[in-house]
Amino acid sequence: MTKRVGFATRIGAIAAAVGSAVGLGNIWRFPYEAGNNGGGAFILVYICCIIVMGIPVILSEFIIGRSTHSNMKAALLKLSPGKKYYLFTYICIIGSFVVMGFYSVVCGWIIEYLYQAALGHLSNHTPEEYSNMFTSLVSNPWRCVGWTVLFLILNFLVMSRGIEKGIERVASIMMPLLFLILIIFCVNSLLLPGASKGLKFLFYPDFSELTMRGVLDAFGQAFLSLSIGISCLVTYSSYFKDDTSLTKDATTVAVLDTLVAILSGVMIFPAVFSFGLEPTAGPRLIFEVLPTIFQQMPGGYIWALLFFLLVFFASLTSTISLSEIPITFLIEEHKMSRPHAIAWAALFTFVLALFAALSFNVLDDIKLFGKNIFDMMDYAASNIFMLLGGLFTAVYVGWVLDRKVVHEQMTNGGRLKGRMEPFLIFCLRFAAPISIIFIFLYLTGII
Ligand code: PFF
Repeated sequence: MTKRVGFATRIGAIAAAVGSAVGLGNIWRFPYEAGNNGGGAFILVYICCIIVMGIPVILSEFIIGRSTHSNMKAALLKLSPGKKYYLFTYICIIGSFVVMGFYSVVCGWIIEYLYQAALGHLSNHTPEEYSNMFTSLVSNPWRCVGWTVLFLILNFLVMSRGIEKGIERVASIMMPLLFLILIIFCVNSLLLPGASKGLKFLFYPDFSELTMRGVLDAFGQAFLSLSIGISCLVTYSSYFKDDTSLTKDATTVAVLDTLVAILSGVMIFPAVFSFGLEPTAGPRLIFEVLPTIFQQMPGGYIWALLFFLLVFFASLTSTISLSEIPITFLIEEHKMSRPHAIAWAALFTFVLALFAALSFNVLDDIKLFGKNIFDMMDYAASNIFMLLGGLFTAVYVGWVLDRKVVHEQMTNGGRLKGRMEPFLIFCLRFAAPISIIFIFLYLTGII
């Protein structure tokens, strides 16, 4: 077994977990999901998901990871010797590649915008021109694939340097900076004329706009955003120290992650309404709205650059955690060297990302249920892999795992009160599985 290094400090460990959670899911995806599903109504469902499923599943992943200090497969084998639960690890690994596939394409778009910002091209354009700029990017296969490959090279270069110190340091600096910048942008947006319409759109719960599919999207978004259901947090928490309070850490991750998502909405929607843009523009929303905001701010050039740089780092701390899932698995279970494991992970990711990058241009006529390959990967990742993963994790820790292990981890061997334990067990046994199963039955038309 490879010698396991841990996170050096508790703050560093939290920063790394928050770094994994905070990413494109919050800044790019959350605002457009809310925009498409009735704003405030979506946010309410989303917050309920975070409380009854998000935090309990984060805690469950922490319990599995920290009690065993192992990757998912070894952990399930240690906790349930002789049982087949460990097979679930393979679903997690496929899930992590599917997320990486579409996610790295968006990261590629972010690098292009960073480049355009550096050249000073994100200024003096009309909203239509920004819209055309985005269309011309995604319809050009060379640019899309080129930026995606560049992102993947950077991602796997960071991985190859050994990440423990790297992730911890990068995340500890970048996360506070990201918060600061987000707050500045929010204040700026709120001062725009007509900002209140955007706030009303974001916070007023209009349930007539929320469909059952919207509820599913809220579930999927919560899972994607919190990085749960594909063993990412099992992998990270396997590096946690034994004396940190898992309950506190899980709650901190969930609260900060939700705060960034909501602040991203506050940054975007007042501006959308103020500039007369379309709140339901979908995945292109931030690429059209943000440049319009930057150009009317004093020092817009610097803000644009800083913003895309931070989104880039936020994405990188997420993709690092995603790639770590198969890499730790290959190193520990298949006895590969780190460079060897990285090469395999990079190859698989590249193939999937290639399909995703080409799905807006060369492969745009390949569609299933009206979705192109990119959309299918995005949908499958959050609404199938991560939700199913969440269901497995909840049922496993709630019903199968020895309660002594849960109690031991919740109380750090009796040193903490562990007051959340009954709530945790209730959510894991009933609330989370019943809601997830209900959503699946509804979508498959069974009820
Ligand atoms: N939580 C990340 C985001 O919101 O962008 C995405 C993510 C990272 C999902 C790590 C899954 C994961 F394992």
